[in-house]
Amino acid sequence: MQITPMSPRCGVEISGVQLANADGEVMEAIKQAIYVHGVAVFRDQEFSPEDHIAFARRWGGIDINNYFPLNEAYPEIALVRKSAEQTTNIGGAWHTDHSYDQVPAMGSILVARTLPPKGGDTLYAHMGAAYDSLSDELKQEIEGLEAFHTADHVYKADGIYAQTDMGSDLRGQDLKTGAVHPIVIRHPHTGQKLLYVNSAFTINIVGRTRDESLPLLQRLYDAALLPDNQCRLEWRPGTVAIWDNRTTWHNAINDYQGYAREMHRITLSGEALAA
Ligand code: SIN
Repeated sequence: MQITPMSPRCGVEISGVQLANADGEVMEAIKQAIYVHGVAVFRDQEFSPEDHIAFARRWGGIDINNYFPLNEAYPEIALVRKSAEQTTNIGGAWHTDHSYDQVPAMGSILVARTLPPKGGDTLYAHMGAAYDSLSDELKQEIEGLEAFHTADHVYKADGIYAQTDMGSDLRGQDLKTGAVHPIVIRHPHTGQKLLYVNSAFTINIVGRTRDESLPLLQRLYDAALLPDNQCRLEWRPGTVAIWDNRTTWHNAINDYQGYAREMHRITLSGEALAA
């Protein structure tokens, strides 16, 4: 197994492994690489839906997605899809999946099934690198603070997606979400300090209004996106990416109008987060 960095502070490409057969020590090494580097990319994978589900079960629990359409034959697999006619994509802004849950999902295993001829890359940003990028004063300022996260403004019947041509594809418009997490968490396995706010789902700092919270949150978001903290995944047929939601943000670039893109996603269960 060979591990090659994708950028100075974010992501690795792992070669010499077929995920369909990975278990035992190989699985442990893959987990460790993802916990540390945030995202791992695997090329040229033979990875059927059955392999996808079996690999996720070997990793740990599966969280069934509440919002995306599900694969009819394999409800463990959510469809992240955009047709050639649709203009809005899923996940087309910087975010951390499930930060609005009390126990957020650990991460995702995303498999490329239909790709546009060009474009449709996914960007990742490393939240440990983001935390390290903050000045000592800013680290001091956020020490001990917590923030409130929700997805209601995104997925509800009057939310952002409902105003777009993606709205009718999504489910869960009647769900209500909300969770408070520390702004700086420690990774449950590596102990690394990670910035845990994101502009898609973080609403306010606890004890402050949204307007009072935004200037400080914006300073954190700006620091998080320094170029060295990011990496870019160009998908190819046979590519699988696995990322850690605690360690990364991601952003699906919507630059392939007129073409379809379909990805299969399994969301891996996580654990409670702590400072
Ligand atoms: C997502 O899970 O937010 C979508 C990622 C992608 O489609 O690249």
